[in-house]
Amino acid sequence: MSAPGATGPAVGWQAAAVSGADPATPSEADPAALDVRGLTFAYPDGRRALHGVDLRVEPGERVALLGPNGAGKTTLALHLDGILRASAGTVRVGGLEVGPTTLREVRRRVQLVFQDPDDQLFSPTVRDDVAFGPANLGLRGAELDARVAEALTAVGMAEHAERVPHHLSFGQRRRVAIATVLAMRPDVLVLDEPTSNLDPAGRRELGEILDGLDAALLVATHDLPFALQLCPRAVVLDDGVVVADGPTADLLADADLMAAHRLELPYGFDPRSVPPARDTRR
Ligand SMILES: Nc1ncnc2c1ncn2[C@@H]1O[C@H](COP(=O)(O)OP(=O)(O)O)[C@@H](O)[C@H]1O
Ligand SMILES: [Mg+2]
Repeated sequence: MSAPGATGPAVGWQAAAVSGADPATPSEADPAALDVRGLTFAYPDGRRALHGVDLRVEPGERVALLGPNGAGKTTLALHLDGILRASAGTVRVGGLEVGPTTLREVRRRVQLVFQDPDDQLFSPTVRDDVAFGPANLGLRGAELDARVAEALTAVGMAEHAERVPHHLSFGQRRRVAIATVLAMRPDVLVLDEPTSNLDPAGRRELGEILDGLDAALLVATHDLPFALQLCPRAVVLDDGVVVADGPTADLLADADLMAAHRLELPYGFDPRSVPPARDTRR
């Protein structure tokens, strides 16, 4: 035995904590941006929301998460940065298993944009909201200012840094919410219904902002044309299970699949008429 004190093979955060190894060490040679395996979850009231979800997202990849109301999209999103803890199964982020001792690094790598921007904004100024995360990481002074400016510029809100978040329009608040997560320079951005309540121009501008990012994207949405334009791949979740995974245009053109999972395109919309979204995998 070469290592008598060892407790066995490295199995996620427990082994890393015991051995004192860097918990950020990837568990695989070429880890996925997100690797969800057998994820099962029940809410405290006993309602089972996820039943063995498997999902792998490559670095830089853009994946739409589709499915009817109650399918489990938000519940899945809340597991990806450890807000909810799986009843069974694992979530890995860049090879790092989500668990109590890895949360800090997980939340640097994965950022969630909630459905309601007001859940994300709580500071007296836009600048303070965007600075909150990176300041927590230890950034200060000019470095912090540059990080805030970079994030606000990316969402076209640099001139609004001194404003009070709740004085902004809904679309502006959503953009600031996105800036708060971009300021963390995440590897993975998870967005829950990002186009809800946006007017058509705001929706198009959001698409342009997201299209300019390098991070992997997982976009839970009912906005199927938006999913098609941004994400070459889509996953359909229904009743806590992945029921389809493939090219977004193929899924949206599959009338039986769509009908079986309460997915409806806007009247007259032809998914084959839209040029395929860019493949941004790295
Ligand atoms: N806090 C909660 N407590 C109990 N059940 C919940 C809670 N939040 C969601 N659920 C249930 O979990 C399932 C999945 O919900 P959700 O993840 O919100 O779906 P989606 O985002 O796809 O609409 C639904 O059956 C929903 O009623
Ligand atoms: Mg939801």
